[in-house]
Amino acid sequence: KIIIADFGSQTTQLIGRRLRDLNTYCEIVPYNKIPTDLTGVRGIILSGSPYSVYAEEAFTADIAAIRGRLPILGICYGAQLMVHQNGGSVENSNTREYGASTLQLVDKGDPLLAGLSPQHTVWMSHGDTITRLPEGFKVIASTPSVQYAAYRIAGEETWGVQFHPEIHHSEEGTKLLDNFVTLCGIKGEWSSESFIESSIASIKAQVGDEQVIMALSGGVDSSVAAVLLHRAIGNQLTCIFVDHGLMRLGEAEQILADYKALGLGCIKVDASAKFLGDLAGVRDPEAKRKVIGRDFIEVFEAEAKKLPQARWLGQGTIYPDIIESINITGKVIKSHHNVGGLPERMHLKLVEPLKHLFKDEVRRVGLALSMPRHMIFRHPFPGPGLGIRVLGEVTPEKVAILQQADKIYTDMLRKYNLYDEVWQAGAILLPVQSVGVMGDERTYEYTVALRAVTSVDAMSADWARLPYDFLAEVSNEVINKVRGVNRVCYDVSSKPPATIEWE
Ligand code: XMP
Repeated sequence: KIIIADFGSQTTQLIGRRLRDLNTYCEIVPYNKIPTDLTGVRGIILSGSPYSVYAEEAFTADIAAIRGRLPILGICYGAQLMVHQNGGSVENSNTREYGASTLQLVDKGDPLLAGLSPQHTVWMSHGDTITRLPEGFKVIASTPSVQYAAYRIAGEETWGVQFHPEIHHSEEGTKLLDNFVTLCGIKGEWSSESFIESSIASIKAQVGDEQVIMALSGGVDSSVAAVLLHRAIGNQLTCIFVDHGLMRLGEAEQILADYKALGLGCIKVDASAKFLGDLAGVRDPEAKRKVIGRDFIEVFEAEAKKLPQARWLGQGTIYPDIIESINITGKVIKSHHNVGGLPERMHLKLVEPLKHLFKDEVRRVGLALSMPRHMIFRHPFPGPGLGIRVLGEVTPEKVAILQQADKIYTDMLRKYNLYDEVWQAGAILLPVQSVGVMGDERTYEYTVALRAVTSVDAMSADWARLPYDFLAEVSNEVINKVRGVNRVCYDVSSKPPATIEWE
């Protein structure tokens, strides 16, 4: 694997993304956690940073400890840091550069630059510039304003580049990273099939002959994790599906049928009466989330207690959930989903076979496991389900109204081949009644808002430009077929400042 040491740059994740696109396995670690035991590590990339190497708060690492042991590539700050630590100069000069620049190769024979055009566009983003290289560092490429745009340390497989090869606008950046990966000697080792094979082996080794329990939601991550666990340990795995009554119309049944077809034995617990009962009278969005979260844990725990031999909790945690990223304050932030403290309380160990994968890799693994496309490409759906899409108080009647409207909308998205065009879509029932007219009758009924967004990671999102004719048809169908609704709106808010969900 390749290790990417994160010095806090906004593009660290992007470096990882590019390496994965090159079928290369990589892990991102905070700058202060570069391992000294380099067994299995074939190369190290040092990321950029918001700091200057001279800043008091600057993140530093002992690069000398790893230099010469394996190929190293410093990007921007990473390149400056090695210069700074070896007696060269980095200055905040008037050559600060943001944006496109033309890279001119100086040493065309350098293997990092193999196959690159003699002149091409690279993306710069730096305030500081390397103004003097230490002894033994030799320049291999320049731009009109930055003489030392790329260097190599003589006699070592250590390089530094001032530009950002990971950024899309660096025309031949991927080729440069590809060259680096080749120099590390691990090119193209990652594939869904090899991942499945190696994770089955490691799950077996980890779990042994002990029992695993797992909560399934129908979501992509937990489903793929469960299928993988099932391949590895068969009936040592027990899956539990808690039906909170807040799924889409017919979805709980569909999910269970899918699991059954995949050979996963899944215990269904119908707890909708409990959830809806506990939600009665609760209007505040956060309070509703708390009720749903608490009920989920109670129901799951009660069910899990019927399997006292279970020692492990399986989870569909993926890389973005666990990634340790650092922010400008230097704190390591770790966000880790788990079932609300449940593993600790029940003394369960965690088995998380997907924890090093990005979402699209999870999807590739799912397809390689022959899971159905509709499961793999299912839109994200919030854990609290329609409980946070019926705004305000949730009642069984309102859930039923929303389920019908949502089904018309979702079916129509599929019919018009728009489902895969958007990141996620759903209907929201507003706690607003308005006046309408049907036949000769005055009506006073609810409003349904339609939401559809495009996004790559749900951190930001834009409202999807769905065709007017499509929206017209959905609106007609909803108003004509769903009793209790006389008005349909389309949400044209982006995130930020709005969020994808309304509550
Ligand atoms: P927001 O509304 O914050 O949503 O823009 C971002 C993404 O997260 C999903 N979401 C949730 N998922 N439990 C979940 O598992 C939740 O409580 C929850 N709230 C929001 C949302 O659907 C979107 O994909």
